[in-house]
Amino acid sequence: MKIVKKISILQKEVSRLKRGGRRIGLVPTMGYLHEGHLSLVRFASKENDVVVVSIFVNPTQFGPHEDLQKYPRDLKKDLRLLKGFCDIVFTPVPKDMYPRDSCTFVEVRGTSDILCGSTRKGHFIGVTTVVAKLFNIVLPDNAYFGQKDAQQAAIIKKMARDLNFPVKITVLPIVRDKDGLALSSRNSYLSDNERRDAVVLFQALRSAQRLVKQGAKDSVKIKDILADFIGRTPSARIDYIEIVDQDTLESVKAIERQALLLLAVYIGKTRLIDNAVLKTR
Ligand code: PAJ
Repeated sequence: MKIVKKISILQKEVSRLKRGGRRIGLVPTMGYLHEGHLSLVRFASKENDVVVVSIFVNPTQFGPHEDLQKYPRDLKKDLRLLKGFCDIVFTPVPKDMYPRDSCTFVEVRGTSDILCGSTRKGHFIGVTTVVAKLFNIVLPDNAYFGQKDAQQAAIIKKMARDLNFPVKITVLPIVRDKDGLALSSRNSYLSDNERRDAVVLFQALRSAQRLVKQGAKDSVKIKDILADFIGRTPSARIDYIEIVDQDTLESVKAIERQALLLLAVYIGKTRLIDNAVLKTR
């Protein structure tokens, strides 16, 4: 497993691999890896000759009052976890990714301003900019993202289509802890009590799925029931509960066959997101 920090060195390596006709799979991450990230890497290693995992805590996707400085980092452990099924780990530094005079950003309009983009202003511009840069540096045939960040995945798909990136985007299922909490690097911020409370997101998703199977269709009613349910956990504060179309992320009033339920909930000071598909049958 090669560890490459410099962009120019990775580009040389990539062009050598491309000349040799190798299929490249990219898994972009911000590190502090867990089984959710590793599920993407494992999947990528089955479909590609070479797997590149990027580890970069991307400053442009953090707001001024967000957790950039305290975002968890443990490169040594990450490298240990990746050994065996990753070929290249790309660990660029912010000043190389964003030289001081860097002034070009990628924006997917509309979908970037709703849901998480409405609480986290500018967040998705940071995400699409760094992912576009990674696509240009790594030139992957395939790139892998998690359904955990459903809005991010939908936005990246749009960007790749709109900007004609020759890369196939694959979105893989959410990996959860035993009690149902979606794995996330940010779960490390939770105290023991908060960790216990955090399962309320998964429980809310499950109860919505049951309601819809039993015939509930009205989004407003379902959202009210969920708000009431989540509100009973004292450490929980709802950022948003939305029921949307899976592709466009536009709100749906009544669930016809299926829709996507998205949750963003603060547990104490930690903002967690989760989602699930609601199916009528
Ligand atoms: P990060 O939060 O490190 O996540 C990297 C990838 O892992 C994302 O595609 C995310 O959806 C996926 N992932 C995280 N938790 C998961 C889980 N429990 N199950 C399945 N997949 C999971 O998302 C980012 O980094 C950044 O925004 C990035 C795309 C790297 C751009 O900086």
